[in-house]
Amino acid sequence: MTNRRDLPLERSADLPDHVVENRRHWDAAAPQWVANGERNWARDEPEWGIWGIPNSELPLLPDDLSGLRAIELGCGTGYVSAWMRRRGASVYAIDNSEQQLATARRLARLHGLDDIDWVHGNAETVDQPDASFDFAISEYGAATWCDPYRWIPEAHRLLRPGGRLVFLGMHPVALLCSPADGSGPLATSLERPYFGLHRVDWTGVEQDPGGIEFNLPIAGWFALFRRVGFVVEDFLEPRPPAGAEAVSSHATALWARAWPAEQVWKVRKAD
Ligand SMILES: C[S@@+](CC[C@H](N)C(=O)[O-])C[C@H]1O[C@@H](n2cnc3c(N)ncnc32)[C@H](O)[C@@H]1O
Repeated sequence: MTNRRDLPLERSADLPDHVVENRRHWDAAAPQWVANGERNWARDEPEWGIWGIPNSELPLLPDDLSGLRAIELGCGTGYVSAWMRRRGASVYAIDNSEQQLATARRLARLHGLDDIDWVHGNAETVDQPDASFDFAISEYGAATWCDPYRWIPEAHRLLRPGGRLVFLGMHPVALLCSPADGSGPLATSLERPYFGLHRVDWTGVEQDPGGIEFNLPIAGWFALFRRVGFVVEDFLEPRPPAGAEAVSSHATALWARAWPAEQVWKVRKAD
């Protein structure tokens, strides 16, 4: 397994420490995400989040993206980008992990989608011009692993006036209930303070799942969007149907029937 000290100096020196750690973490974890990527690439109708809620019930992607330029921030194995390409968008997909991108490129070849731009880089600083995208999305990519105070202003810069950003990730309440030692599943007690919630470092804790993730209190998200120039169009807390089965063991359906495990933000760059 690669460790931070093995990275070439110029790469680790140029990147914030959380980006270096998350690159190490995701390069190592990539093999565990191949099967999920394969399943989702094979789907025409998107399914979202821990509960696999269909896009018809939780509409994160418009049915028609013809003529639009779209970006996925933290594309992982790339299936959200595939869904956008099949809906007519031209797609730029950036991810911090070469190993995740290797899966995305292989599945793109397999499914005959040869014109998605797969880019290795940090979604907090994207090498594309201002106002060059109509639509931006993140599903547990930048939404979880990038610092909101860096990636939200960057998404705003990349979008044209009127352009939309949609993202799905863990709800701050779920992070409050994540055991501090890095184990699972979600607890029914508060494991860390809500106020001041920002950076959660999973390296070096007892169970060490690795990686550094981010979230904000709800008021913090609202304040950030307002300051940056995004108008909030919707905020959703997807809830599993009774008896649903989670694809991850972190949040059980019983837990998530009572508390919000996931959040969806839909925001629009002010004209
Ligand atoms: C759970 S995956 C989500 C992506 C996709 N929905 C999937 O499941 O394949 C998280 C992804 O975020 C990426 N990521 C983490 N930090 C990033 C950063 N700073 N810039 C771009 N991507 C990042 C990781 O490399 C990883 O592929």
